[in-house]
Amino acid sequence: MSFRRWFLAALAVSSASLPAVHAGNVQKPGLTLPANASIQQDAVKQIFNTSYTAYKQYAWGHDDLAPVDETYVDGLGGWGASIADALGTMYLMGYTDWFEEAIDYVGTINFNQSKTPDTVSVFETTIRYVGGFISAYELSGQKYPILVQKAQEVADKMVYGFVGDNPIPYNYINFTDNQPASGTSNVAQAGSLTLEWGLLSQYTKNDTYSTLATNSVLHMIGLADPIAGIPAQGIDPATGESVGSYVTWGGGTDSYLEYLIKYARLTNTNDTTYADAWATAVDSSIQKLLRNSTVDDWLYLADFDGTNILHVGSHLACFYGGNWILGGALLNNQTIIDYGLQLTDACMNTYASTATQIGPETFAYMSSDGNATGTTPPDAAQLAFYNEHGFYITTADYILRPEVLESNFYAWRVSGDQKYLDNAAKAIQSFEKYLPTTVAYTGINDVNQVNSTKTNDMESFWFAEVLKYLYLTFDDPNNISLDDWVFNTECHPFKAPTALPVYGSGNLIQNSQPFASQSGSLPQVSPTHS
Ligand SMILES: *[C@@H]1O[C@H](CO)[C@@H](O)[C@H](O)[C@H]1NC(C)=O
Ligand SMILES: *[C@@H]1O[C@H](CO)[C@@H](O)[C@H](O)[C@H]1NC(C)=O
Ligand SMILES: *[C@@H]1O[C@H](CO)[C@@H](O)[C@H](O)[C@H]1NC(C)=O
Ligand SMILES: *[C@@H]1O[C@H](CO)[C@@H](O)[C@H](O)[C@H]1NC(C)=O
Ligand SMILES: *[C@@H]1O[C@H](CO)[C@@H](O)[C@H](O)[C@H]1NC(C)=O
Ligand SMILES: *[C@@H]1O[C@H](CO)[C@@H](O)[C@H](O)[C@H]1NC(C)=O
Ligand SMILES: *[C@@H]1O[C@H](CO)[C@@H](O)[C@H](O)[C@H]1NC(C)=O
Ligand SMILES: *[C@@H]1O[C@H](CO)[C@@H](O)[C@H](O)[C@H]1NC(C)=O
Ligand SMILES: *[C@@H]1O[C@H](CO)[C@@H](O)[C@H](O)[C@H]1NC(C)=O
Ligand SMILES: *[C@@H]1O[C@H](CO)[C@@H](O)[C@H](O)[C@H]1NC(C)=O
Ligand SMILES: *[C@@H]1O[C@H](CO)[C@@H](O)[C@H](O)[C@H]1NC(C)=O
Repeated sequence: MSFRRWFLAALAVSSASLPAVHAGNVQKPGLTLPANASIQQDAVKQIFNTSYTAYKQYAWGHDDLAPVDETYVDGLGGWGASIADALGTMYLMGYTDWFEEAIDYVGTINFNQSKTPDTVSVFETTIRYVGGFISAYELSGQKYPILVQKAQEVADKMVYGFVGDNPIPYNYINFTDNQPASGTSNVAQAGSLTLEWGLLSQYTKNDTYSTLATNSVLHMIGLADPIAGIPAQGIDPATGESVGSYVTWGGGTDSYLEYLIKYARLTNTNDTTYADAWATAVDSSIQKLLRNSTVDDWLYLADFDGTNILHVGSHLACFYGGNWILGGALLNNQTIIDYGLQLTDACMNTYASTATQIGPETFAYMSSDGNATGTTPPDAAQLAFYNEHGFYITTADYILRPEVLESNFYAWRVSGDQKYLDNAAKAIQSFEKYLPTTVAYTGINDVNQVNSTKTNDMESFWFAEVLKYLYLTFDDPNNISLDDWVFNTECHPFKAPTALPVYGSGNLIQNSQPFASQSGSLPQVSPTHS
């Protein structure tokens, strides 16, 4: 996932009532693919092949390929974020030689020093490098312990983000002198470490990582919320206090909410705090944030600035459909699943409505309670677009983000409705048509122009997320089943305990210790895998 945008405002308080919740299987039982699925899967593999071949040629060891200039971009420590992010996708696609070459490379990274002059993001580094390494370790049957060793090396640097007894980490660290950079963080940055650091503790037998990550989340769960279950987006690591009262499912808050339910599932814990917090956030979102467009009745989750509902949406926020589908299935709550499917359909409509059939970065809409967006009202062209499509574009670029196709993947695996396969097939066609450069693929500046100018960055999440979600959409549903795996926010799958827990207040006891049910010790490490 990418750099999250976020905005701030003032603080209010609210309280919640909880549903009793029960676990259920996630995927539709007996789901099978149509025979033509392999055509789409092969197309995705070829896109990966082209993209990675160009990355190897022009950007090897750097973070991203700059696919127009045929050079590289370093914005994530310069250690080769695309390699970390591509590992699992290569493993699943059967690119074994590339996978092993990448693991050899990982063994050579020195995480003691950033290769870029800027500070290092704890959040971005965790979800890509730590998440990518541990997922690849699990996918490949724990054959390459160097992956855990390198995850621990970089995590040991990120631990410097936690200062004194402060539960909330500073997000940016100078890897030269290990000093965190002061400044406001957000709940997504401080709240999306639990899956990765928890597994790191399991495999290294050092509880420090897990304890730091969960203390941060438990602190945020305890904050006074502007809307029950959803803390303000901004948070001050120096004081642990909220900054402003901006509420959103989009960037800056997104993966805090995403991880509450995923952490409950991955740990199989009998501590209902996390699942309860997620259910509270969803329940209050249903009551306060759901909005239907006045045109075509599309369902969205609005933002709230502490005073006003803002009728805005974003590509980033569109993960919410898939997250509600997953969480609704885990809680055995069809109401939440159905909302998740409707939210996904509205996000897919942002794809279906443009000239390229690719969705924009941000958009807005109107509902029966008005059209406030916090910024300028729609102009005549936007209004005309709205009257045709039930949303209008406010930022028109597409930078290879995954969230809409991510939700579409959950919708397919849980509902079994073939329209989600058709959606994914159309996206593949559009990507093949509008995103190629001479050597690879890149973003476009205007999704509503078939001849848009191009960006010059093949983001690492293209490898980790877009191509993996598309590939798995057309893969045997028993492979990386949502009943067995939990994806981190960068689409790196982690193996979940077999026995499904029962979530929520007053239900079955499973494990007293998070991760205690999972086996796994760290074998002796040799410098490289071979
Ligand atoms: C694949 O086959 C299904 C019927 O099994 C059909 O509905 C769908 O349109 C086909 N998809 C493509 C991309 O050909
Ligand atoms: C990538 O695609 C090219 C062209 O189709 C093919 O020659 C090559 O073998 C592929 N690479 C791998 C690793 O499969
Ligand atoms: C997916 O499942 C099929 C059939 O069970 C199997 O042949 C294939 O190897 C699996 N693919 C992966 C990547 O596990
Ligand atoms: C990184 O720093 C640690 C702690 O100072 C040290 O043990 C390790 O050898 C260093 N790694 C490299 C590759 O320099
Ligand atoms: C990181 O720390 C070093 C050593 O104190 C300093 O020279 C450098 O300017 C710092 N970098 C940033 C981005 O703050
Ligand atoms: C566990 O990891 C933390 C953080 O890097 C470190 O300070 C501590 O010494 C480690 N504990 C052990 C027993 O190795
Ligand atoms: C499902 O979730 C909704 C929204 O929180 C809630 O109103 C409803 O009571 C739940 N249903 C069950 C059966 O728990
Ligand atoms: C929006 O419309 C759908 C049906 O089209 C309905 O199920 C849902 O309750 C409506 N939601 C709101 C918030 O009005
Ligand atoms: C937006 O809402 C305001 C206030 O209700 C109204 O005056 C205005 O016409 C609306 N604008 C559009 C484009 O619908
Ligand atoms: C887009 O470019 C193609 C070829 O460069 C050209 O044929 C076509 O007319 C252009 N379309 C538009 C809408 O500008
Ligand atoms: C979890 O289980 C342990 C052991 O059975 C028990 O001591 C603990 O109180 C339980 N915790 C919760 C929150 O139910």
